[in-house]
Amino acid sequence: MGGPSQVIEARELRKRYGDFTAVDGIDFAIQAGECFGVLGPNGAGKTTTVKMIHCASPLTSGTLRVFGLDVGREPRRIKARIGVCSQEDNLDPDFSVLKNLTVFARYFGLPAPGALERARELLEFMGLWERRDDRIRDLSGGLKRRLVIARALINDPDLLILDEPTTGLDPQSRHQVWDRVRTLRRQGKTILLTTHYMDEAQTLCDRLVIMDRGRILVEGPPAELVRSRVGREVVEVWGYPPALLDHARLSGWNVEIDADRLFVYTESGEDILQAIAHRFPSERCTVRMAGLEDLFLKLTGRELRE
Ligand SMILES: Nc1ncnc2c1ncn2[C@@H]1O[C@H](COP(=O)(O)OP(=O)(O)OP(=O)(O)O)[C@@H](O)[C@H]1O
Ligand SMILES: [Mg+2]
Repeated sequence: MGGPSQVIEARELRKRYGDFTAVDGIDFAIQAGECFGVLGPNGAGKTTTVKMIHCASPLTSGTLRVFGLDVGREPRRIKARIGVCSQEDNLDPDFSVLKNLTVFARYFGLPAPGALERARELLEFMGLWERRDDRIRDLSGGLKRRLVIARALINDPDLLILDEPTTGLDPQSRHQVWDRVRTLRRQGKTILLTTHYMDEAQTLCDRLVIMDRGRILVEGPPAELVRSRVGREVVEVWGYPPALLDHARLSGWNVEIDADRLFVYTESGEDILQAIAHRFPSERCTVRMAGLEDLFLKLTGRELRE
C-alpha cells in the first residue's frame, strides 16, 4: 500500500507466545528519514515489535513490510539494509573492540581491507578508536553501548534500530549518543528508537507511539501529543488535603494523584495557583511545563509493571 518513502508498514501486527499475546494487532507506518520512537512500560511489547521488524522473530499474524518487502518472504534482503543495536549487549567477549567490528563486517560480506577501513571510521565516529585493542570485558557499560551502535552501522544501513541505546549510560554518554543519532538522521537514515527516557524521546523523535500491553495507545509528534492530551502546564501540590482534591474535582479540573502529590493539568497554571492560594493558602504548589512523562503516566498509570 504505502508509497516508496514508507520504510516500515505494520498492519494488524500480532505476536503470541503460547497463550500470551505480546503484540496485539498494532498498525503503524514509518517514513523514510524519520526518527520514530516506541515508548511503553516494561513488557509493553517494544522489543517484540522490533524483533519482528528485523526478521529475528516471526509474526503470529498481520502484515509487516520493511522497505516494501514482506518480512516472511524476504528476510535476507531486508536484513542487509538494517542495523540493529539490541537491548542486550551481545558483543563477543573474546574479541577486541576492533575485531568485534571486523568479524561482524564479514557477515555482511565486506572484504577484509574494506572492513578494516569501515571499522576505523565507525570507531572514530563513536569516539572509540583509542580503545580499539581493549577486550570487551574491560569496557564500561557506556563504551559497550557505543560499540554496539558502531557495529549496527557496519553495513551502512538505511534503517537503524536502537532498542534502548542509552539505558545505564551517564549523562555525558547519553548526550554523545543523542548527538550521533542526530548526525545519522541528518545523513538521511531512518531511525527506530525505543527508550524509557522521556527527554530522549522528546529531543530525538519526530513521531512516536506509546504502547502498553501489546497495543498502541497514542501516536504523533511528541510536543503535539503532550499539548493535546495533557495541556500546556502542570500544577503540583505536595501533601494536599482531601478537601483540595474534592475542590479540584468539583471545579472540573483535570487532576491526577499519586502517593503524595496532586497534579492539575491545565492551559494556565497561574489561574490554578491563584484558585488554590485563595482557598488553601498554606499549600505548597509549583507550576511547570507539561512534558512527555506526564502523558506517559497519564496513559499507562502509576503502578509498577513486570
Ligand atoms: N520468548 C518469549 N517467550 C515468552 N514470552 C516472551 C518472550 N519474549 C517476550 N515475552 C513477553 O512478552 C512481553 C513483551 O516483552 P518485550 O520484551 O517486547 O517488552 P518490552 O516492551 O521490550 O519491555 P522492556 O521495556 O522491559 O524492554 C513481556 O511480557 C515478555 O515477558
Ligand atoms: Mg525491550
